[in-house]
Amino acid sequence: MGEQAKFATKLGIIATTVGSAVGLGNIWRFPYEAGMNGGGAFLMVYILCVLILGIPVMCAEFIIGRRSKSDTVDAFRKLAPGSRWHYIGYMGILASVLILGYYIVISGWTLEYLFRALGNDLAGKTAAEFKAEQNAFIQSDFRPLLWTYLFLIINYVILSRGVQKGIEKMSNILMPLLFVILLVFCVRSLTLPGSSEGLAFFLHPDFSKITPQVIIRAMGQAFFSLSLGMGILVTYSSYFTSKTHLIKTASTVAVLDTTVAILAGVIIFPAVFSCGLDPVAGPDLVFVTLPNVFNQMPVSALWSVLFFLLLTVAALTSTVSLFEVAVAFLINYMHMSRKKATRIMILVIALLSTVCSLSIGSWSHIRIFGKTIFDAFDYFSAIILLPVSGLLISIFIGWVLKRNISREELTNRNKLHEPLFNAIFFSIKYIAPVIIILIFLSGFGIL
Ligand code: PHE
Repeated sequence: MGEQAKFATKLGIIATTVGSAVGLGNIWRFPYEAGMNGGGAFLMVYILCVLILGIPVMCAEFIIGRRSKSDTVDAFRKLAPGSRWHYIGYMGILASVLILGYYIVISGWTLEYLFRALGNDLAGKTAAEFKAEQNAFIQSDFRPLLWTYLFLIINYVILSRGVQKGIEKMSNILMPLLFVILLVFCVRSLTLPGSSEGLAFFLHPDFSKITPQVIIRAMGQAFFSLSLGMGILVTYSSYFTSKTHLIKTASTVAVLDTTVAILAGVIIFPAVFSCGLDPVAGPDLVFVTLPNVFNQMPVSALWSVLFFLLLTVAALTSTVSLFEVAVAFLINYMHMSRKKATRIMILVIALLSTVCSLSIGSWSHIRIFGKTIFDAFDYFSAIILLPVSGLLISIFIGWVLKRNISREELTNRNKLHEPLFNAIFFSIKYIAPVIIILIFLSGFGIL
């Protein structure tokens, strides 16, 4: 990396990495996936995926990033010169671009709702009215796009300021704010009348609901939520210092990210049940059911503003990380200035997100394998690309790169006593690849 960017502080390292992990995936995607795939059963499989696959693959990405101190394509080139392993890097860039294409659209929706909450425009409506309004909004051509573009501009401002002044500074301020707002909501939701039914739905596993489909979705969700398989953590860990304790950082990020997802469930399900709404609402869950829930609480405008602020903040720290993968690549590989690289990526994503947004409304007749463009982007990137690239990354670390390099990185060149090294390495080498392959085979009905 030309100027060899670095994060300035330990807090910054955790805040930015958690900032990438915690996003719409936790607060918007996780609860609706859990709702549609068996509630407590999904949660259990999800947690197992994080522990068995997530933490080892995250350590593997950290090893690659910090060792090579480079963007996600060049990293593999440096570590395995003359091979094709750097294609994993391109795959990561492709996945991050596809994800950004629709993620930015939903981020735009959060701005719309924040705006409406600020104008107290969410008050006094019935569930049916919310649903109708939400449908009309997301299917319209212009309004969602306006918010999408505004969100892109905010990303541009942060990204063009660079690693320390932009990304790190933003995360240091926004991530603590996000945790405070979440806690306030937890208390509020748990004290609603009838909240225990929702908690039971979310926390009690019904093992009969665990099917290969549930498992494959839980795995995709774990990779998505931990920001794995996209080169994001390769890129961010190239900004770590030589003192950063990689295993500790990976575990902290995984625990915090999972905590936020669980908190989101704890907030959403009791509230949904307490108001007699449907927990299986799908992607609408956050946008339709929650404003409705807030309406039935005192000072509803305050809750709505707080919630959609939370969602916007979570989305922003994640989109910035998604952009950074490609921006770092363009800076390094094409020798562009940060501003130019950022501008190019913003334009590319503006185009893709326009297509994604329109595919919900006017262009919904265009189908890829029976899915709208929006859903196809989500399915192909989150459920397929991320686990596949996680699989390749673990094979690379376990079987291609010298074991000693992993040991040096995970022990900071033998300065740390790291009793977990053998266990983590074993998981990267054997457990993660085997389980990912098994989940794929059974998910696609081959096993
Ligand atoms: N992990 C983020 C979330 O849960 C989203 C994200 C996905 C960010 C992929 C980067 C890469 O919302």
